[in-house]
Amino acid sequence: MPLHRTQTSPDVLAADVYATRAAERPVPKLRIPKQGLRADVALNLVRDELSFDGNARQNLATFCQTWLEEEVHRLMDQSIDKNMVDRDEYPATAEIERRCVHIIADLWQVPDTKEAIGCSTAGSSEAAMLGGLAMKRRWEAIRRSQGKPTDRPNLITGPVQVCWHKFARYFDVELREIPMAHGRLGMTPEEVASRVDENTIGVVPTLGVTFTGRYEPVAEIAACLDTIERERGYDIPIHVDAASGGFLAPFVEPELVWDFRLPRVKSINASGHKFGLAPLGVGWVMWREKTDLPDELVFWVNYLGGNMPDFALNFSRPGGQVIAQYYLLMRLGRDGYRAIQQSCYDVAQHLATSLGKIGPFEILFGGDSRNGIPAVCWTLKRDADVRFTLFDLSDRLRTRGWQVAAYTLVPDLQEVTVMRALVRHGLSRDMADTLLDDLHDAMAYFTKHPQAAVADETESGSDPHGGVHPSRTQAKTT
Ligand SMILES: Cc1ncc(COP(=O)(O)O)c(C=O)c1O
Repeated sequence: MPLHRTQTSPDVLAADVYATRAAERPVPKLRIPKQGLRADVALNLVRDELSFDGNARQNLATFCQTWLEEEVHRLMDQSIDKNMVDRDEYPATAEIERRCVHIIADLWQVPDTKEAIGCSTAGSSEAAMLGGLAMKRRWEAIRRSQGKPTDRPNLITGPVQVCWHKFARYFDVELREIPMAHGRLGMTPEEVASRVDENTIGVVPTLGVTFTGRYEPVAEIAACLDTIERERGYDIPIHVDAASGGFLAPFVEPELVWDFRLPRVKSINASGHKFGLAPLGVGWVMWREKTDLPDELVFWVNYLGGNMPDFALNFSRPGGQVIAQYYLLMRLGRDGYRAIQQSCYDVAQHLATSLGKIGPFEILFGGDSRNGIPAVCWTLKRDADVRFTLFDLSDRLRTRGWQVAAYTLVPDLQEVTVMRALVRHGLSRDMADTLLDDLHDAMAYFTKHPQAAVADETESGSDPHGGVHPSRTQAKTT
C-alpha cells in the first residue's frame, strides 16, 4: 500500500481564523494580494479593522440613520443585486420608487400629485444639485427669451451645508450666502431682499440649518419674494433644502407652512436616510409641476430594452434604500413616523433643559419642533468659569464612546464655538441620561485635572470660549 502524505495546508486545517498564517501577517493595505484568503479569514480581518470605528449609536454628530429594524436589514440583503437605474429589468423596484415619489409629493402638499414630478437620489447633496440645476436652466430660458445675458447667475442662501457650495462651484453660480451675526443665526427676509437682483436664479431656505438645527422662515421669505416681484418684477423661485426637516415637520408640526402650500416653493429636497429613517444612500427631490423641471435636463435613455427618463448625476445606484424607504412608509404610517419623531424631540428637549441647568452652557437651540429639528446646540457662556473648551469636552466624551461634534460657527461668527447633539431614532431618554452623566464626569475631570485641558490648548487656543485648531473648524455636516 503506497504511503500518502497529507497535503492539506495548515490554513485549511485551522479551525480558528486567528491560527491561520494570514492572521499573523499584516493586512494588505495598498495593493491587492497575489493570493486570496479563506472567506471567513478575510471577513474577520475586515471586521476587525472596522471594530476601530466609533459606535454609530453613540454618534450624535451625524444626521443619518444608525438604528434600523431587522426587517430593513432583510430587505437590504434581498435587494443587494438590484440596480435602481435598470427600470426595465426591475419594474417592481421602479414601481416602488414611483409610489414613494407620490407619497412624498403628497406629504409635502403639492396641489396636484399628478402634476408633481420627482425622483430618488443618492442623498440630499445630489438632490440639491438637481434642484439647483433646474432653477439655473429655468432662469436661463427666461433670460434668453428676453434677449438678456445669462453669464452671471447667483443663488441666495442662509448658512448652508457644503453641498450648496459644491453646486455653486461645479455649475458656475455665484453663491450669495447670508453670513451669521450675533442674534441672527439664519436667513431673514431683509437679508434676502438686500441681495436679490435680476440674476438671482433662486433662494434656498434650509429646514434644519446644519450648524444649529434651526428652521429658516420659509413662509416669510416667500412673502418677501412676492413683494419683490410686485415691486421690482423679479419672479424668484424657492427651493427648500429640507434635508432633515422634510420628514419631521409634516408629521410633528403639520400646521407649519413651509412646503408646496406656498406657491413660490417650486422644489424641495430631503434625505430619506436622515429623518426619513431609511438606511444610508437615499434622498428625494420633488418639483411642484412638470414645468419646474426643464425638459432639457431629462435624458431619455434607450438602454437594456427600455426608453426611460433619467435625471440624476450618476447612473447605477443600489435599489435597497428606496425599497427600505417604501417599507418604512408603509410599516410606520403617519402615526408611526409622528410617534418616533416626537420621542426624538422629547429627548432633545430633555437634553437641552438638563444642559441648561448645568450652568456654563448657553443653549442656542433646544430642539423645539416648531423651530427646528430634534437637535441641541450650545455654546459656553462668555462669563463661564471653566478650564476647558468645548473641543476638550468633546474629546473627553470620546473616552466614553460619545461623538458629540464641537466646531466653530460659519462666517461671520467663526469666533463662536458650539457643540451640537443630534437626537435620532434609537437615542432613548436613558441613553441621553447616560450622556449627561458622562458629561458631568468629564467636567469634573477638568476641574480635578485642569492641565489636561490646558495641554490641549496649544492646539485649540487659550480662550476656552473660542480657541480653534484649524482641523476642528468644520462642522460635522452629514
Ligand atoms: C441642510 C443639509 N442639506 C444637505 C445635506 C447633505 O445631505 P446628504 O448627506 O444626504 O447628501 C445635509 C447634511 O447634513 C444638510 O444638513
